[in-house]
Amino acid sequence: MAKKNDGYLSAAESRRISRENRRITDQLEKKRKRKNVPESEYLTQMRDPENAVEFDDLHTYFFTDAGTVKSVDGVSFDVPIGKTVGVVGESGCGKSVTSLSLMQLLQRPQGQIISGSIRLNMGNGKAYEISNVPQEKMQKLRGNMISMIFQEPMTSLNPVFRIGAQIDEVIALHDGEGKSKEEIKKRSIEALDMVGIANSEGVYNMFPHELSGGMRQRVMIAMALVCSPRIIIADEPTTALDVTIQAQILDLLRNLKDKINSSIMLITHDLGVIAEMADYVVVMYAGRVIEKGTAEEIFAHPAHPYTIGLMASKPVVGRKVDKLYSIPGKVPNPINMPDYCYFRDRCEMKLPCCDGEYPCMISLSPTHKVSCYRFYEEHLKEAEAVDMPEEIREQLRASAQIAAETEK
Ligand SMILES: Nc1ncnc2c1ncn2[C@@H]1O[C@H](COP(=O)(O)OP(=O)(O)OP(=O)(O)O)[C@@H](O)[C@H]1O
Ligand code: SF4
Ligand SMILES: [Mg+2]
Repeated sequence: MAKKNDGYLSAAESRRISRENRRITDQLEKKRKRKNVPESEYLTQMRDPENAVEFDDLHTYFFTDAGTVKSVDGVSFDVPIGKTVGVVGESGCGKSVTSLSLMQLLQRPQGQIISGSIRLNMGNGKAYEISNVPQEKMQKLRGNMISMIFQEPMTSLNPVFRIGAQIDEVIALHDGEGKSKEEIKKRSIEALDMVGIANSEGVYNMFPHELSGGMRQRVMIAMALVCSPRIIIADEPTTALDVTIQAQILDLLRNLKDKINSSIMLITHDLGVIAEMADYVVVMYAGRVIEKGTAEEIFAHPAHPYTIGLMASKPVVGRKVDKLYSIPGKVPNPINMPDYCYFRDRCEMKLPCCDGEYPCMISLSPTHKVSCYRFYEEHLKEAEAVDMPEEIREQLRASAQIAAETEK
């Protein structure tokens, strides 16, 4: 992209970019809005039938007037059936955009899945390629197959309708065929009971502003789970709540997930929430997955310098420090990503080889993968020579040891 030295775009450049953007997005929108698309066009197969969702080299971009924002730039991870996958990473690293891609709820026409796959397991050996599912079919999958719990329930609940009417609508839309009004109401009240709302019949007739934050979040969970979706996306579900309510909501979410045997994709900044809830952890940085593994692997042997920094910046009860660790520097500009490791300019453990191209994923175990040069076999010795705090070195040694053993 042509840019002036001062970093601003001229009006002519900006017009050229928007023309080009429109050309790309018009084409993609036309495809998505087609009617009566045969199922064969979006039928696919899961790589592993034990997975509920598989993200495979997903690229989701926003075509803005300032340039193309590569929000998700080659993300791959699985969400196994019945498990919780925690997605962590700094603000703006693409966590929400990854989940909105699965829901096809990106802000359009700017936001588009450009390439890669999102495979959704439909059961009975059937799977859909979400990036090819047309708009009209997608409406049927939301709520039934995939549903989402947002951070701030007040922005998702409609303030002018009563709680009951809003849950009734979800049931009527997704699962209401052949059901009378009374039957739907009964199911809504059961859903409110299920999420632990004591006065469910009373709350059914209330407006959102009459409820506390914790109750509103329970209502959101009731709405998300009322049609027993296969996958629940919870994007910072408890950030707006105090700690005791947070623990109750997380417990509730875990129990309901087991009851309806669905999977959770849990997005949060809070490593404590991840430690408590997740079976697997995916760490994202600047639109890419930089490390993933089981929760035990990531917490016991964080390998990527960014993950180690995240763990080190978490306060620990009983450990008194003068100052909490914070990762220096900031994330690169998503419009102009470098061609070397995106973390390099902030990395306190970099090696001379880190100036090379973006590092590929190295397996530390069948489930634990990291994208960092330190774990390339030929650099393991070199990595030992770098000056760094002893605690972090110990951590890296443990991970590198695993890497060396896996290589053998
Ligand atoms: N509608 C949009 N138009 C342009 N850029 C967008 C849009 N939505 C998101 N982005 C960009 O995509 C990138 C990823 O955003 P995303 O919302 O996924 O971050 P996040 O990891 O969920 O952050 P947070 O933890 O703050 O919620 C950011 O650089 C953001 O600026
Ligand atoms: S590849 Fe190099 S710069 Fe990037 S995180 Fe690893 S050590 Fe740091
Ligand atoms: Mg977000």
